[in-house]
Amino acid sequence: MVEMDKALLAKAREYVQGFLEKEATGHDVFHTERVLAMSIKLAEGMDLDLTALALAALLHDLDDYKISLGTQRARSFLDRYCPDKTEMVMEIIENMSFSSHTKGKAVISIEGKIVQDADRLDALGAIGIARCFAYSGKTDRQLYKGETDDDSAIAHFYQKLLKLEALMNTDKAKMIAHERSEYMKEYLARFYQEWKGE
Ligand code: ADP
Ligand code: NI
Repeated sequence: MVEMDKALLAKAREYVQGFLEKEATGHDVFHTERVLAMSIKLAEGMDLDLTALALAALLHDLDDYKISLGTQRARSFLDRYCPDKTEMVMEIIENMSFSSHTKGKAVISIEGKIVQDADRLDALGAIGIARCFAYSGKTDRQLYKGETDDDSAIAHFYQKLLKLEALMNTDKAKMIAHERSEYMKEYLARFYQEWKGE
């Protein structure tokens, strides 16, 4: 087990804060912190590089195309403060998104699998529902249009969110994902009831 470099993480946190302070599509600093906390929880008892795991969690959304196109913010930080971690952390970040998955890419390291699980867990449950509606509003998508195969927020539940449980890498994440997905299904049932005026 490689212990966490606390001073380095504090620097990373400050760096991330500068970019995501005003972020309003669900990729804010609080998302980053939840992904970090969940990654540490999923990593409990495992023999891995905690610093690389934490850096990947903190930096993972800085260059996401939904936030910033064509930037190299994560890589710049790593090259400057911990070049020995650049390769490992960038491999995680570049291959962990849902769109990477649909393009056939996969994260290989255990650190990457854990951060990917933690990020996906944050798209589920009560927070996942909130993030989905926030993102939808910000990108001019409607709440629901009566279908599940269009671009509405509710349709996104079926197109992506409810598929995440099956994609979890670790057993611990699978259990949490299952419980959060069940909650979302209850939410959907209630949503349809109210939609129909019941
Ligand atoms: P992350 O980068 O944190 O893995 P995503 O960028 O995939 O997450 O999405 C962030 C949040 O925005 C998610 O919680 C997801 O529900 C929501 N989101 C992403 N794409 C869409 C979409 N096309 N419609 C509605 N919500 C979306
Ligand atoms: Ni994320």
